[in-house]
Amino acid sequence: MSGTNKRQLRSARWFGGTPFDAEHTGHALQAGLAREEFEGKPVIGIINTWSDLNPCHAHLRERAEAVKRGVWQAGGYPVELPALALGEGFFKPSAMMYRNMLAMQTEEMLRAQPVDGAILLGGCDKTTPGLLLGAISADLPTIFCPAGFTNAARYRGESFGSGTGPFRWAPDLIAGRLPVTEWQKIEEKIWSSPGTCNVMGTASTMTALAEVLGFSLPGASSVPATASKGHQLAAAAGRRVVDMVWEDLRPSHILTRAAVENAAKVNVALGGSTNAAIHLVAIARRAGIDFNLQQFDAVVRGVPVLANVQPSGAYLMHEFADAGGLPALLNQLQTLLDGSSQTVMKQTLSEVIEQAQIDDDEVIRPLSNPVASEALVVVSGNLAPNGAVIKPSAATASLMQHRGRAVVFEDAADMAARIHSDDLEVTPDSVLVLRNCGPQGGPGMAENGMLPIPKKLAEQGVRDVLRISDARMSGTSFGTCVLHVSPESWVGGPLALVRSGDEIEIDVAARSLNLLVDDAELAARRSAWQPPKPHYVRGWGALFIEHVNQADQGCDFDFLVRPGATPEPPIFGKL
Ligand code: FES
Repeated sequence: MSGTNKRQLRSARWFGGTPFDAEHTGHALQAGLAREEFEGKPVIGIINTWSDLNPCHAHLRERAEAVKRGVWQAGGYPVELPALALGEGFFKPSAMMYRNMLAMQTEEMLRAQPVDGAILLGGCDKTTPGLLLGAISADLPTIFCPAGFTNAARYRGESFGSGTGPFRWAPDLIAGRLPVTEWQKIEEKIWSSPGTCNVMGTASTMTALAEVLGFSLPGASSVPATASKGHQLAAAAGRRVVDMVWEDLRPSHILTRAAVENAAKVNVALGGSTNAAIHLVAIARRAGIDFNLQQFDAVVRGVPVLANVQPSGAYLMHEFADAGGLPALLNQLQTLLDGSSQTVMKQTLSEVIEQAQIDDDEVIRPLSNPVASEALVVVSGNLAPNGAVIKPSAATASLMQHRGRAVVFEDAADMAARIHSDDLEVTPDSVLVLRNCGPQGGPGMAENGMLPIPKKLAEQGVRDVLRISDARMSGTSFGTCVLHVSPESWVGGPLALVRSGDEIEIDVAARSLNLLVDDAELAARRSAWQPPKPHYVRGWGALFIEHVNQADQGCDFDFLVRPGATPEPPIFGKL
């Protein structure tokens, strides 16, 4: 890593101060800036995922102004660049289908324009990995600023998290024990302010992992969206990224195997989202680090859950923040981490967490008193040759070793049509199987993996059964759900061959998942199997299906993880 001077600024290729740069200089003047406001200054692109259709990011335009304030203070030139907002609740068929679009957009916006450094504004689930993936490939000095989490919620004296937190009352609603008017009261509290889901779902997990990877200011992921501290940190990030440009401190200096392995361990210590297993693999592979689902599992063995936060624990993100937040958890975990990994602060991880301490050891547990011994386990076997994930800390202990008969749903539509039917042949021991919901089959791996408890069972008071799919589930979800079965059924993975009535056996301790059907019968079913028709024949959907990798490889596009560099754009003056 070496420093940069004014003439070496990337933006100087556009704003070189010669008559040949008149087109670029003229447009900067057109924006109302005087020459001294932009010439020779680092241009900081603020990639902003604000949108009216992403209420989690409703405050990000204001947040961008705080970043600009910091950039100006440090002698930089801030430019705000709107990007795909990926509102988790509204994007269909799944925001996941567009994560790579945001990644490509981020990378190309940074590369094609006069930008020296970047601030990434995001937080709602797929925005964090989408922004990071693009910034890693662009490899300009970058800081990620998380949106912060939404207000806390309580119902009848019980605190509950946003996202799928209220689903704990869904069996009561389905069985008619909870009136719709009461359900609506709950609905009004799920997200009662701007900000991301306030549990350790995908949003909080991924913003925390961005911080562990070294991309955020210390403690930034443990701040509520409406706290003044969020704006203060945004301005500080604006100041810091200008310095990073002069220092030439880029993602390729920060993102190492040690940082990735730290992030995998912290995901478990947080009781974090199963989705992180996909995103972290994608992030590592984008940086040229050989990392897959099996390696993820090997790295996290023995790491306990320390964050007593829903859905694995009892508390919400506000209590986690008050207990010391991520820096305190990292400090407690440091014997299991590689503290030498670098951060945007030009300090090591050990240095930035040195002073952090736990203020409430019921919310952030010490290593001697963990919440659970395991939070994410990769199982494999003849039903998932390349692996599948389960989150024991949010599941039912008695189902960790289980054998039952399959009840198969062909796809999400079939499940929606039949799951609450009185005719469904299902018992508390059944194994619900959902297929054709994977990366290509979904397409985009929608969060259908927490199949609802069938009405027939809900009426008997059953609150959990074993569920298996090639879908994902929301990081806010809970239950005994085996997810991301790889390879997926749509490409002919063994999940495609399961029939209702087949026996399935899981043993989480042994990390095994098997379909108890003999090989000859499976071979006969395979030869009769027909690939389904693609959902898309043109446009983004067709591009996605053609190029997306399987879940165990991170669902990136094959051409985005290809080795090799993308050249800087050629720039020719018009004189
Ligand atoms: Fe935006 Fe959960 S829906 S973070």
